[in-house]
Amino acid sequence: MATLSGIGMGLWYIFLALLPLVAAYICLQVFFRKSNIEVQRLESLSRSPPISHLSSTLNGMDTIRAFSALEDFTTLNDKQLDHNNVEKFALKYILSWYGIRLDMIGAVIVLFVFGGITLVRIFGSLDVGSAAIAMSYTSGFTSLLANFSVEISDLELRTNAVERFWEYKKIEQETHNPDDIIPEEWPKEGTIVFKQFSFRYANGPLVLKHLDLVIASKSKTAIVGRTGAGKSSLLQALYRILEPADGTILIDGVDFTKVKISHLRSKLAIIPQDPTLFMGI
Ligand SMILES: Nc1ncnc2c1ncn2[C@@H]1O[C@H](COP(=O)(O)OP(=O)(O)OP(=O)(O)O)[C@@H](O)[C@H]1O
Ligand SMILES: [Mg+2]
Repeated sequence: MATLSGIGMGLWYIFLALLPLVAAYICLQVFFRKSNIEVQRLESLSRSPPISHLSSTLNGMDTIRAFSALEDFTTLNDKQLDHNNVEKFALKYILSWYGIRLDMIGAVIVLFVFGGITLVRIFGSLDVGSAAIAMSYTSGFTSLLANFSVEISDLELRTNAVERFWEYKKIEQETHNPDDIIPEEWPKEGTIVFKQFSFRYANGPLVLKHLDLVIASKSKTAIVGRTGAGKSSLLQALYRILEPADGTILIDGVDFTKVKISHLRSKLAIIPQDPTLFMGI
């Protein structure tokens, strides 16, 4: 605003001459913003695969070496990095493309204002102070236009976070049933009974089918099975990550679906397949 009023001091009629340039700037803005947001999105999408590939490669280095698959992994890594670089370069060139056009508009604005000032000084009655202020503000006008566009694109991109937030909000919530029927000291013994228990992920097939299992209090039980047999799913089910498809689990005789989910989870402890140990101080 300061810049505009600086330029406009005594020279408001120059703004009329600038109207076609304003129209050109708006068209350029709209065109640039659409492409810029799309390419930024593509760039961030292509950034995650090489990062996750790197982390899984580092985790599975022994296995990769044992199966002599180093070359395959290197090739995939190169491919993913190349893909990301294509988007990165596209982004860079879009910004250069836009910068050049913006500079051109800025140069024409400077030409108009400087030409206008000169004419008004020759034929009119513009004082030197106003002319100097208008000239000095005009020279910084191009970078102002550029910053404005970048800020607007950034704002648009960041509002995607709100869109994601609404998507997460639509996700079905876990049932939070009250647990006022549960005794204070529950679970005392820790007996776990699976009764005709069935479990599935989302709309997939049943992973656990009509399971009957009793795990006695204070006993140690090993569950053995091939990969994909459902060992981890058994623990997921115990934590009620998803509701049972059929049957139930009784913990010390209490149906676990009747317990408030936060209360149930606070009473269980687990050391997962890939435990994370936090560094001590
Ligand atoms: N999040 C998930 N969404 C959909 N299906 C899943 C999910 N997690 C596991 N499954 C499927 O459930 C079945 C049981 O998998 P689970 O991970 O419980 O096996 P597991 O016995 O723990 O195997 P592993 O020994 O490899 O750890 C498999 O068919 C698997 O594909
Ligand atoms: Mg498992």
